Amino acid sequence: MSSTSNETTAALAELDRLESEGLTAFETLATIPDWEAARVVFLGLKQGRLKVAQEALKTLPGPDRKTYGQRFNAVKTALEVACETAKTKLDQSVVKTAVIGEDLTVPGTARGFGRRHPLTQTSEELIDIFGRMGFELARGPEIEDTFHNFEALNIPADHPAREPLDNFYLTPKTLLRSQTSTVQIRVMEATKPPIRVVALGRVYRPDAVDATHSFMFHQIEGLYVDRGVTMANLKSTLRQFAKSYLGQDVTVRFRPSFFPFTEPSVEVDMMWDSSGRWVEMGGAGMVDPNVLRAVGYDPDEVSGFAFGLGIERLCMRRHGIDDIRPFYQNDVRFLSQF
Ligand code: DAH
Repeated sequence: MSSTSNETTAALAELDRLESEGLTAFETLATIPDWEAARVVFLGLKQGRLKVAQEALKTLPGPDRKTYGQRFNAVKTALEVACETAKTKLDQSVVKTAVIGEDLTVPGTARGFGRRHPLTQTSEELIDIFGRMGFELARGPEIEDTFHNFEALNIPADHPAREPLDNFYLTPKTLLRSQTSTVQIRVMEATKPPIRVVALGRVYRPDAVDATHSFMFHQIEGLYVDRGVTMANLKSTLRQFAKSYLGQDVTVRFRPSFFPFTEPSVEVDMMWDSSGRWVEMGGAGMVDPNVLRAVGYDPDEVSGFAFGLGIERLCMRRHGIDDIRPFYQNDVRFLSQF
């Protein structure tokens, strides 16, 4: 080992200073910007003190360079470690301040509970009421063919109800169903009497939207086919239903009417409020023998009643709503009342 030159001794002393000042600096930092500044001063790639010390190597006499180089590497590692440690510590303390800085006694933001749409709630209640009266739930498609929507329901090709302007045709033979009566046919095609079903769902008609009309609304369809089913069964079933859903004091009346798929047919009205106003709840009747025959039943063997009621109307009567439009506007102020 040769003794080092004066120049080298001075350079090594500068390395010692650099190390102790750097370590102190990184240990006493309080903020991230302070850390960033210290990092530039000591480890900056262009003008940092470590970089300057590295450059100094070249000016030293050859034999001293190894000693200096080893010492330099040790200082460099020490400063880099100190720099990283300081950063980790500061990052953690930032997180901690954020948590501790919060006032844990401040009440949280109330999120409120979501709820099912009033029409969904109504539908479920209707299914429940008819379920208790022995009606099973049936389903059918919303895109229907003209056979199920018309023909099988005794609505012939030239009937005005089939007008293109009164229906949402998709093709000449398919349409968005205009009534849930379609499901009656599908159920009768698939099963033999006795049948007691309800079917609920959307129906579509190109009506202009106003307080009582919408191009889409919901119906509940009922069908009861067995030996000896009579009009008296129909009336008592609907009265019983109305009392269950609308209350014991509700008044219901039946008016003679016409539907191609029932004979005789009635319209069913409910007393809307104490003003004595009647509002139509839906249509009903005894299943037309032509319909029974279309699905292969013998009208001399079995008879049946059917009904189709507007779900929106029922819900509106129950809750005192006088406009159908809010059901489809998704305004939370309306929906949250149910
Ligand atoms: N489908 C009829 C309508 O949309 C309602 C209706 C009337 C349904 C009589 C029936 C019924 O099942 O028997 O206006």
